[in-house]
Amino acid sequence: MSSKVVVIGANGRVARLLISLLVKSNDVTGVVQEPAHEEVVKSLGAKSLVLTPESPLSDYKAAVEGAVAVYYCGGHWPCAGPDAPPIPQEELEAAHKAEHDATIKVYDAIEALAGPKPRLIMLSGVDIRDLSKVPDHYNEDDLKTSKWLQDTMPLWMKWKYETDKALSQRTAFKWAILRPGGFSDEPGTGKVTMGRTHLMPMIPRADVAASLAALLNRDDASGLGIDVIGGETPIQEALDAAIKKGETDFIL
Ligand SMILES: NC(=O)c1ccc[n+]([C@@H]2O[C@H](COP(=O)([O-])OP(=O)(O)OC[C@H]3O[C@@H](n4cnc5c(N)ncnc54)[C@H](OP(=O)(O)O)[C@@H]3O)[C@@H](O)[C@H]2O)c1
Repeated sequence: MSSKVVVIGANGRVARLLISLLVKSNDVTGVVQEPAHEEVVKSLGAKSLVLTPESPLSDYKAAVEGAVAVYYCGGHWPCAGPDAPPIPQEELEAAHKAEHDATIKVYDAIEALAGPKPRLIMLSGVDIRDLSKVPDHYNEDDLKTSKWLQDTMPLWMKWKYETDKALSQRTAFKWAILRPGGFSDEPGTGKVTMGRTHLMPMIPRADVAASLAALLNRDDASGLGIDVIGGETPIQEALDAAIKKGETDFIL
Protein backbone atom coordinates (compact mmCIF):
# COMPACT_ATOMS: atom_id res chain seq x y z
CA MET A 1 0.00 0.00 0.00
CA SER A 2 1.38 3.41 -0.89
CA SER A 3 2.00 5.89 1.91
CA LYS A 4 0.27 9.23 2.30
CA VAL A 5 2.63 12.18 1.78
CA VAL A 6 1.57 15.83 1.99
CA VAL A 7 3.33 18.63 0.11
CA ILE A 8 2.51 22.15 1.30
CA GLY A 9 3.16 24.98 -1.14
CA ALA A 10 2.41 22.50 -3.93
CA ASN A 11 2.17 25.09 -6.70
CA GLY A 12 5.80 26.16 -6.20
CA ARG A 13 8.39 25.22 -8.81
CA VAL A 14 10.41 22.93 -6.52
CA ALA A 15 7.22 21.45 -5.06
CA ARG A 16 5.89 20.54 -8.51
CA LEU A 17 9.13 18.72 -9.36
CA LEU A 18 9.02 16.98 -5.97
CA ILE A 19 5.43 15.86 -6.45
CA SER A 20 6.31 14.40 -9.86
CA LEU A 21 8.91 12.23 -8.14
CA LEU A 22 6.78 11.28 -5.12
CA VAL A 23 3.63 10.26 -7.02
CA LYS A 24 5.50 7.30 -8.56
CA SER A 25 5.22 5.37 -5.30
CA ASN A 26 3.14 7.41 -2.84
CA ASP A 27 -0.34 8.74 -2.31
CA VAL A 28 0.45 12.47 -2.53
CA THR A 29 -1.73 15.39 -1.48
CA GLY A 30 -0.60 18.80 -2.67
CA VAL A 31 -1.75 21.75 -0.56
CA VAL A 32 -2.25 25.08 -2.34
CA GLN A 33 -3.58 28.41 -1.21
CA GLU A 34 -5.59 29.25 -4.33
CA PRO A 35 -8.36 27.04 -5.74
CA ALA A 36 -7.09 28.05 -9.20
CA HIS A 37 -3.86 26.11 -8.51
CA GLU A 38 -5.56 22.80 -7.77
CA GLU A 39 -5.54 21.80 -11.43
CA VAL A 40 -1.75 22.05 -11.56
CA VAL A 41 -1.45 19.64 -8.64
CA LYS A 42 -3.99 17.20 -10.10
CA SER A 43 -2.22 17.25 -13.45
CA LEU A 44 0.88 15.92 -11.66
CA GLY A 45 -1.08 12.91 -10.40
CA ALA A 46 -1.62 14.13 -6.83
CA LYS A 47 -4.74 14.94 -4.86
CA SER A 48 -5.23 18.62 -4.19
CA LEU A 49 -6.37 20.52 -1.14
CA VAL A 50 -6.81 24.25 -0.46
CA LEU A 51 -5.61 25.59 2.88
CA THR A 52 -4.99 29.24 3.57
CA PRO A 53 -3.18 30.83 6.50
CA GLU A 54 -6.68 31.60 7.86
CA SER A 55 -7.89 27.98 7.71
CA PRO A 56 -8.56 26.58 11.19
CA LEU A 57 -6.09 24.27 12.89
CA SER A 58 -8.66 21.46 12.56
CA ASP A 59 -8.37 21.68 8.74
CA TYR A 60 -4.58 21.54 8.94
CA LYS A 61 -4.86 18.55 11.29
CA ALA A 62 -7.16 16.73 8.91
CA ALA A 63 -4.74 17.43 6.05
CA VAL A 64 -1.69 15.89 7.78
CA GLU A 65 -3.46 13.04 9.60
CA GLY A 66 -2.33 9.60 8.41
CA ALA A 67 0.66 10.95 6.49
CA VAL A 68 4.13 9.48 6.90
CA ALA A 69 5.71 12.77 5.89
CA VAL A 70 4.78 16.40 5.34
CA TYR A 71 6.97 18.55 3.11
CA TYR A 72 6.86 22.30 3.61
CA CYS A 73 7.91 23.94 0.33
CA GLY A 74 6.02 27.24 0.62
CA GLY A 75 7.52 30.68 0.50
CA HIS A 76 5.49 33.45 -0.98
CA TRP A 77 7.50 35.10 -3.72
CA PRO A 78 6.54 38.74 -3.15
CA CYS A 79 8.17 38.27 0.25
CA ALA A 80 11.55 37.35 -1.18
CA GLY A 81 13.99 37.80 -3.99
CA PRO A 82 15.75 40.66 -5.68
CA ASP A 83 12.97 40.94 -8.26
CA ALA A 84 10.20 41.18 -5.66
CA PRO A 85 7.90 44.13 -6.32
CA PRO A 86 8.43 47.23 -4.18
CA ILE A 87 6.08 46.77 -1.24
CA PRO A 88 5.96 49.10 1.77
CA GLN A 89 8.15 47.74 4.57
CA GLU A 90 5.23 47.24 6.99
CA GLU A 91 3.29 45.23 4.39
CA LEU A 92 6.30 43.08 3.65
CA GLU A 93 6.91 42.46 7.35
CA ALA A 94 3.23 41.57 7.82
CA ALA A 95 3.32 39.17 4.85
CA HIS A 96 6.36 37.41 6.28
CA LYS A 97 4.79 37.22 9.72
CA ALA A 98 1.59 35.75 8.22
CA GLU A 99 3.60 33.13 6.37
CA HIS A 100 5.56 32.33 9.54
CA ASP A 101 2.31 31.92 11.50
CA ALA A 102 0.90 29.63 8.80
CA THR A 103 4.00 27.45 9.03
CA ILE A 104 3.72 27.27 12.81
CA LYS A 105 0.14 26.12 12.29
CA VAL A 106 1.50 23.15 10.34
CA TYR A 107 3.81 22.28 13.26
CA ASP A 108 0.91 22.65 15.70
CA ALA A 109 -1.32 20.46 13.53
CA ILE A 110 1.23 17.64 13.47
CA GLU A 111 1.85 17.99 17.19
CA ALA A 112 -1.89 17.88 17.94
CA LEU A 113 -2.46 14.54 16.18
CA ALA A 114 -3.50 11.81 18.59
CA GLY A 115 -2.05 8.91 16.61
CA PRO A 116 1.25 8.51 14.75
CA LYS A 117 2.76 11.81 13.65
CA PRO A 118 4.28 12.42 10.22
CA ARG A 119 7.84 13.67 9.87
CA LEU A 120 8.13 17.25 8.68
CA ILE A 121 10.69 17.92 5.93
CA MET A 122 11.33 21.65 5.60
CA LEU A 123 12.66 23.35 2.49
CA SER A 124 14.80 26.22 3.78
CA GLY A 125 18.01 27.92 2.62
CA VAL A 126 21.73 27.41 3.06
CA ASP A 127 22.61 30.66 4.84
CA ILE A 128 19.67 30.70 7.25
CA ARG A 129 21.28 31.10 10.67
CA ASP A 130 21.77 33.35 13.66
CA LEU A 131 23.43 36.16 11.70
CA SER A 132 25.53 37.19 14.68
CA LYS A 133 27.41 33.87 14.43
CA VAL A 134 29.59 33.39 11.34
CA PRO A 135 30.09 29.71 10.52
CA ASP A 136 33.76 28.66 10.87
CA HIS A 137 33.88 27.17 7.39
CA TYR A 138 32.78 30.35 5.54
CA ASN A 139 35.43 31.71 3.15
CA GLU A 140 35.68 35.21 1.60
CA ASP A 141 33.23 34.28 -1.18
CA ASP A 142 30.71 32.94 1.35
CA LEU A 143 30.94 36.15 3.36
CA LYS A 144 30.29 38.21 0.21
CA THR A 145 27.34 36.05 -0.84
CA SER A 146 25.93 36.13 2.67
CA LYS A 147 26.21 39.92 2.79
CA TRP A 148 24.41 40.15 -0.55
CA LEU A 149 21.61 37.92 0.78
CA GLN A 150 21.32 39.94 3.97
CA ASP A 151 21.25 43.23 2.03
CA THR A 152 18.82 41.97 -0.64
CA MET A 153 16.32 39.94 1.37
CA PRO A 154 16.78 40.66 5.07
CA LEU A 155 13.18 39.86 5.97
CA TRP A 156 13.24 36.53 4.17
CA MET A 157 16.39 35.60 6.08
CA LYS A 158 15.03 36.81 9.40
CA TRP A 159 11.69 35.00 9.11
CA LYS A 160 13.10 31.80 7.62
CA TYR A 161 15.44 31.70 10.62
CA GLU A 162 12.53 32.20 13.04
CA THR A 163 10.52 29.47 11.30
CA ASP A 164 13.40 26.98 11.30
CA LYS A 165 14.31 27.84 14.89
CA ALA A 166 10.72 27.17 15.95
CA LEU A 167 10.85 23.83 14.15
CA SER A 168 14.14 22.86 15.76
CA GLN A 169 12.54 23.36 19.18
CA ARG A 170 9.77 20.84 18.46
CA THR A 171 10.25 17.46 20.09
CA ALA A 172 6.77 15.95 19.62
CA PHE A 173 7.46 14.92 16.02
CA LYS A 174 10.48 14.20 13.84
CA TRP A 175 11.76 16.77 11.37
CA ALA A 176 14.62 17.52 9.00
CA ILE A 177 15.58 20.75 7.24
CA LEU A 178 17.06 20.82 3.72
CA ARG A 179 19.11 24.00 3.23
CA PRO A 180 19.76 24.57 -0.47
CA GLY A 181 21.81 27.32 -2.07
CA GLY A 182 20.38 29.60 -4.77
CA PHE A 183 18.15 27.84 -7.31
CA SER A 184 18.64 27.63 -11.06
CA ASP A 185 16.33 26.17 -13.67
CA GLU A 186 19.15 24.25 -15.38
CA PRO A 187 18.44 20.54 -15.92
CA GLY A 188 19.06 18.38 -12.86
CA THR A 189 22.38 16.52 -12.70
CA GLY A 190 21.55 14.11 -9.88
CA LYS A 191 24.76 15.33 -8.22
CA VAL A 192 25.29 17.78 -5.36
CA THR A 193 27.57 18.84 -2.53
CA MET A 194 25.83 18.19 0.79
CA GLY A 195 26.55 18.81 4.46
CA ARG A 196 28.12 22.04 5.81
CA THR A 197 28.78 23.48 2.36
CA HIS A 198 29.86 26.82 1.00
CA LEU A 199 27.08 29.00 -0.46
CA MET A 200 27.84 28.53 -4.15
CA PRO A 201 27.48 27.13 -6.81
CA MET A 202 23.76 27.36 -7.40
CA ILE A 203 21.71 24.18 -7.54
CA PRO A 204 19.09 23.22 -10.15
CA ARG A 205 15.55 23.08 -8.71
CA ALA A 206 15.35 19.50 -10.02
CA ASP A 207 18.27 18.50 -7.77
CA VAL A 208 16.65 20.22 -4.79
CA ALA A 209 13.48 18.22 -5.48
CA ALA A 210 15.46 14.97 -5.81
CA SER A 211 17.27 15.70 -2.52
CA LEU A 212 13.93 16.29 -0.80
CA ALA A 213 12.54 13.06 -2.25
CA ALA A 214 15.62 11.19 -1.03
CA LEU A 215 14.82 12.37 2.51
CA LEU A 216 11.36 10.78 2.47
CA ASN A 217 12.20 7.57 4.33
CA ARG A 218 15.29 8.84 6.12
CA ASP A 219 14.21 8.66 9.73
CA ASP A 220 17.93 8.84 10.53
CA ALA A 221 18.04 12.44 9.21
CA SER A 222 15.75 13.55 12.03
CA GLY A 223 16.96 16.64 13.86
CA LEU A 224 19.43 17.57 11.14
CA GLY A 225 19.65 20.69 8.99
CA ILE A 226 21.47 19.65 5.81
CA ASP A 227 23.13 22.13 3.43
CA VAL A 228 23.03 21.33 -0.29
CA ILE A 229 24.51 23.17 -3.28
CA GLY A 230 25.54 22.23 -6.81
CA GLY A 231 28.28 19.59 -6.86
CA GLU A 232 29.64 16.29 -8.13
CA THR A 233 28.50 13.66 -5.61
CA PRO A 234 25.45 11.52 -6.45
CA ILE A 235 22.55 12.64 -4.23
CA GLN A 236 22.08 9.32 -2.44
CA GLU A 237 25.78 9.03 -1.63
CA ALA A 238 25.94 12.68 -0.49
CA LEU A 239 22.90 12.23 1.75
CA ASP A 240 24.23 9.02 3.28
CA ALA A 241 27.50 10.80 4.14
CA ALA A 242 25.76 13.89 5.58
CA ILE A 243 23.49 11.74 7.76
CA LYS A 244 26.38 9.51 8.86
CA LYS A 245 28.29 12.63 9.97
CA GLY A 246 25.28 13.36 12.16
CA GLU A 247 26.13 17.05 12.48
CA THR A 248 23.44 19.66 11.87
CA ASP A 249 24.30 22.51 9.52
CA PHE A 250 21.65 24.77 11.07
CA ILE A 251 23.47 27.08 13.47
CA LEU A 252 21.14 28.55 16.07
N1 LIG B 1 14.93 30.86 -5.00
C1 LIG B 1 16.01 30.44 -4.37
O1 LIG B 1 17.13 30.59 -4.85
C2 LIG B 1 15.85 29.74 -3.03
C3 LIG B 1 16.99 29.30 -2.38
C4 LIG B 1 16.85 28.64 -1.17
C5 LIG B 1 15.59 28.43 -0.64
N2 LIG B 1 14.49 28.88 -1.29
C6 LIG B 1 13.18 28.59 -0.68
O2 LIG B 1 12.49 27.62 -1.44
C7 LIG B 1 11.11 28.00 -1.57
C8 LIG B 1 10.51 27.34 -2.78
O3 LIG B 1 11.14 27.80 -3.93
P1 LIG B 1 10.38 27.76 -5.34
O4 LIG B 1 11.34 28.28 -6.34
O5 LIG B 1 9.75 26.44 -5.53
O6 LIG B 1 9.28 28.87 -5.04
P2 LIG B 1 8.06 29.37 -5.91
O7 LIG B 1 8.03 28.72 -7.23
O8 LIG B 1 8.10 30.86 -5.86
O9 LIG B 1 6.81 28.85 -5.08
C9 LIG B 1 6.55 29.17 -3.75
C10 LIG B 1 5.18 28.61 -3.42
O10 LIG B 1 4.92 28.76 -2.04
C11 LIG B 1 3.54 28.87 -1.89
N3 LIG B 1 3.24 29.40 -0.55
C12 LIG B 1 3.62 30.55 0.01
N4 LIG B 1 3.18 30.65 1.25
C13 LIG B 1 2.50 29.52 1.52
C14 LIG B 1 1.77 29.05 2.65
N5 LIG B 1 1.69 29.76 3.78
N6 LIG B 1 1.15 27.84 2.56
C15 LIG B 1 1.24 27.15 1.42
N7 LIG B 1 1.90 27.56 0.32
C16 LIG B 1 2.53 28.73 0.37
C17 LIG B 1 3.09 29.74 -3.04
O11 LIG B 1 1.76 29.39 -3.28
P3 LIG B 1 0.78 30.08 -4.34
O12 LIG B 1 1.28 29.68 -5.67
O13 LIG B 1 -0.53 29.46 -3.99
O14 LIG B 1 0.85 31.56 -4.08
C18 LIG B 1 4.05 29.29 -4.16
O15 LIG B 1 3.47 28.35 -5.00
C19 LIG B 1 11.22 29.54 -1.65
O16 LIG B 1 10.03 30.18 -1.36
C20 LIG B 1 12.28 29.83 -0.63
O17 LIG B 1 11.72 29.95 0.66
C21 LIG B 1 14.60 29.53 -2.47
